[in-house]
Amino acid sequence: MSKLAIKGGKPLRDVKKNPWPTWPVWDQNEEKSLLDVLSSGIWSYNGPKEAEFNKAFTAFIGSDYALSVANGTVSLQLALEACDVGLGDEIIVPGLTWQATAGAVLDVNAVPVLVDVTPETWCIDPARVEQAVTPRTKAIIPVHLYGCFADMDAIMEIAHRHNLRVIEDCAHKHGGQWKDKKAGSIGDAGSFSFQLSKLMTAGEGGALTTSDSKLFEKLDALRNCGRRPEREPSGDKGAGHYGSEGDFIQSGNYRITDFQAALLIESLKRLPEQNRLRDDNARYVNSLLAELPGIRPMKRDPRETMGAYYNFSFRYDKDEFKGLEVTAFREAMAAELGCDVEASYEPLDACALYTPQTKACRYQLSEEHWRQIDPSRFDLPVCHRIYSEESVCFHHTVLMGTRADIEMVVKAIERIYDNAGELL
Ligand SMILES: Cc1ncc(COP(=O)(O)O)c(C=O)c1O
Repeated sequence: MSKLAIKGGKPLRDVKKNPWPTWPVWDQNEEKSLLDVLSSGIWSYNGPKEAEFNKAFTAFIGSDYALSVANGTVSLQLALEACDVGLGDEIIVPGLTWQATAGAVLDVNAVPVLVDVTPETWCIDPARVEQAVTPRTKAIIPVHLYGCFADMDAIMEIAHRHNLRVIEDCAHKHGGQWKDKKAGSIGDAGSFSFQLSKLMTAGEGGALTTSDSKLFEKLDALRNCGRRPEREPSGDKGAGHYGSEGDFIQSGNYRITDFQAALLIESLKRLPEQNRLRDDNARYVNSLLAELPGIRPMKRDPRETMGAYYNFSFRYDKDEFKGLEVTAFREAMAAELGCDVEASYEPLDACALYTPQTKACRYQLSEEHWRQIDPSRFDLPVCHRIYSEESVCFHHTVLMGTRADIEMVVKAIERIYDNAGELL
């Protein structure tokens, strides 16, 4: 009988008897909090839970302001709008990210300029950013992808030199720290997602952080149909003034509900301990992975003083596995471990969910704009190599168990290495 689960052998992990940690995590605190909102009748609109969460998130991130919004896509869009980004502007984004990072740029009529990432972190490559700057560039959106941090020192230096805004996409990085500063407190604004799989979740949701009072006022108006900031949390169904003649702002409704805020308050209380556990396990397993042939752990930059892992990832080299393709390796890993083992995001110049050219009615603003937003004009060799040859990614819950759990990842790799011949 085969030694490999994918060929009918016994899997390393019996997930019926020994399941992986589940997500999301909740208990009676969430239940009570949700019931409190229910009975209060203040289900939305600048309610007390929303105000409490915004305050707690502000303190946690170490920015001067935080605002919760509907999700981590519109948070990017609002941050761009607050920075006055629009038609004719270019925004530099990494080629390897969830499509929303670039999609938000399209939705404010600007041009997403896709640049390549570094092989060791899969985050935007500062050298490529520098090359991509033109007189039209208005902002950079570094994404702290999976478990790594974009090189914020280099990005902030380029931004200062060229007078560009920096919007950190922190959808994967709640609580991660760069030189003791939290992700979301380094650039002009931070954008967070609280979608179900994320490190903090309310099912859906997002937040914006900033320490720029002008940006904050605009963001608050933009998320709330153009209304000006509330003085007090009101729970009122339509409160807020409309600004004064001359400074009205056109916008829509990007608010969250108090049910979401109730969940986020509890989620934030759990986050530091969960991050510590994931960080400890990641450091441990990376030290083991570093010893294996054909496996390279992601680079942990010494300037990253606190890890935050949306995904646990590593790099695979098929040459050390008798030429076994990474797709077959991932399938064999999934069969051994009984969990999803995925590739990285598809590079945005070839991503099925990033297809601006399918929406001429919205994006064909001029022939020149149409040409500029065509993703196929960008060259992203590192993104392509990561996606099609190297990436092996697990959801962060694999880092939330015991050391024995995470050692199983190493054992699965060793088993596949020893028996790679069976899969060729
Ligand atoms: C890097 C990145 N940015 C933005 C988003 C968008 O967040 P949301 O799903 O909350 O709209 C995501 C969601 O997966 C993401 O991974």
